[in-house]
Amino acid sequence: MMIDSLNKLLEEELKDIYSAEKQLLKALPKMARKASSVELRNALEEHLEITEGQVNRLEQVFEALGKPAKAKTCKAMQGLVEEAKEIMEEDATPSVLDAGIIAAAQKVEHYEMASYGTVRTWARLCGEEEAAGLLQQTLDEEGEADKRLSELAESFVNPKAESGNDESSSSSSKSGGSKKSSGKSRR
Ligand SMILES: [Fe+2]
Repeated sequence: MMIDSLNKLLEEELKDIYSAEKQLLKALPKMARKASSVELRNALEEHLEITEGQVNRLEQVFEALGKPAKAKTCKAMQGLVEEAKEIMEEDATPSVLDAGIIAAAQKVEHYEMASYGTVRTWARLCGEEEAAGLLQQTLDEEGEADKRLSELAESFVNPKAESGNDESSSSSSKSGGSKKSSGKSRR
């Protein structure tokens, strides 16, 4: 297909993001399962719910543009998910693994933010205000998720990973760790 207009490029990019979000729907539960801190697991599980909403919102965007919702394999997300898997397969202490999972999740968020920022702007340029508004909503959510991951990393995951002190690690039924902090930030 000849892409000779911003409209068509917008549609192509939306197919890419649609694929990216669907891939993420499959990857997030695995990442959440691997997270050893309750806080990180909760953050990833909550982001899964948000991602489901974002997939629906993308369908609304296609509808607003009068186009069928179609996905075209996003190779970048395939690579990001692949790297996340590699980290999760490493033999690492719980908080070091958590730091790695956060890094992988933030790369995903930044990729999505770049994509949504772009399509939001293109939609606006094409006079597609409804689509632009919907895309802005998702862009805001991705920014929030990224911020939350930074806060988790800075507040305890990285310091713990750095000190090698995993004794007070929340959760992890596998290691039979203390139940002291579990439930603290449950929804
Ligand atoms: Fe997303």
